[in-house]
Amino acid sequence: MKLAINSPRGTTDIYGEDIRYRDFINSTARNIFKVFNFEELITPAFEYTEVFSRSIGEETDIVQKEMYTFFDKKGRSLTLRPEGTASVVRAAVENKMFGSGNLPVKLFYIGNMFRYERPQKGRMREFWQLGVEAMGSDNPVLDAEIIWMLSMIFQRLGFRNLTLLVNSIGCLKCRKAFIKEFKKYLKPKAGGLCGDCRKRLGKNPLRIFDCKVAGCRETAKNGPKIPQYLCESCNTHFTGVTDSLSRLSVNFKISDSLVRGFDYYTKTVFEIVSNDLDSAQNALGGGGRYDDLIAQFGGPDMPAIGFAVGIDRTAMLMKELGIGYGTDTERIKVYLVSMDNDLTGYMLEILKLLRDSGISCDINYTSRSMKAEIKKAEKLDFNIIAFLGEHEFKNKSVTLKNLKDFKQYTISKKEVVEKIFEIAGRI
Ligand code: HAM
Repeated sequence: MKLAINSPRGTTDIYGEDIRYRDFINSTARNIFKVFNFEELITPAFEYTEVFSRSIGEETDIVQKEMYTFFDKKGRSLTLRPEGTASVVRAAVENKMFGSGNLPVKLFYIGNMFRYERPQKGRMREFWQLGVEAMGSDNPVLDAEIIWMLSMIFQRLGFRNLTLLVNSIGCLKCRKAFIKEFKKYLKPKAGGLCGDCRKRLGKNPLRIFDCKVAGCRETAKNGPKIPQYLCESCNTHFTGVTDSLSRLSVNFKISDSLVRGFDYYTKTVFEIVSNDLDSAQNALGGGGRYDDLIAQFGGPDMPAIGFAVGIDRTAMLMKELGIGYGTDTERIKVYLVSMDNDLTGYMLEILKLLRDSGISCDINYTSRSMKAEIKKAEKLDFNIIAFLGEHEFKNKSVTLKNLKDFKQYTISKKEVVEKIFEIAGRI
């Protein structure tokens, strides 16, 4: 009997063009991480459950409903990572990365994350993130640099219609004052909240801001605003962040209802949202400061800040908006076709010439009809056919066909690479 097994709900196989989009996103980000002097860290895909439950917050949706938690054969509770920050902090503390002369420690990561969410467009149970964490400074300039870096990634990828939201949720001291007023505002409205939020109201009302039920989020947003309750030091810090962002010409919008769904955040929080996506899944990336988390993990009392970008969502939106991956020359793929076995030598000459010039290309191994080869080239995402026939061999030339506009050019071998690059600019 044949096995008919699908990939688990909320997961997907990634191949073909999707791989090229992801490679482009990752390499664009890696280049920027290098420019900002960040080093890569790879952590395990699963951790002891406590790493996440304690840091992300017991009242969050992630910890309450979305963790892939299991017991290993020795009965230890393990969890597939739902995000990267907790693991990075655990790793930095465990590996004693905090020396006195190396602060801030600046790390980046690229990896798959797992959340048991209801799958829908742009929301998966296994998804990919790239992120950074800078640990060991509370200087608002660092906040601005991190936000600048996030914005630069999307700019380099070719996005235009995005909004960068920034807010400060203050330190634990100012949050206490806010929560007192927030509870007062919410109590008479408790009947309209979902069951989870009624519980959150007593334990951790901030989490109502990121409830999956839109009505709860709306109620929270219409209440008192966190920035009005910031202490002097948090206010000064936030002014430092926004001033630095302006100096760096980063476009941003202050959003006084941005809170973000993790308990570890303090002071600056930010999110980059697409105006082309549905508001429930419109965040392409986000992050914030977490000044108390490293100490919670038994490390030094050290402030930190970071962000993560959703790679799947970013790739999906790039495709939808028709944003290409890579430069014109990176996108080009040439299919070298000859119908004549006697021309193998000339074919190899041209193949070597193109590949030595960094042009991605393939040849036809079996000669079928020209029509069939064009069909195959289109199916396999080639954008140029380079045809070699008797005439081309005699004249030391190549005939190029741009598969986008079907224009054709017969070019001497010497000039063919240049012509391909020229066509690439129009693809
Ligand atoms: P987050 O906002 O939970 O933050 O995730 C960052 C990004 O990951 C989101 O903006 C979204 O694009 C993507 N994402 C999240 N969940 C899913 C999903 N189920 N399917 C597809 N994409 C998803 C964090 O994870 C924090 N650790 C960020 C951070 C780093 N804060 C400080 N440092």
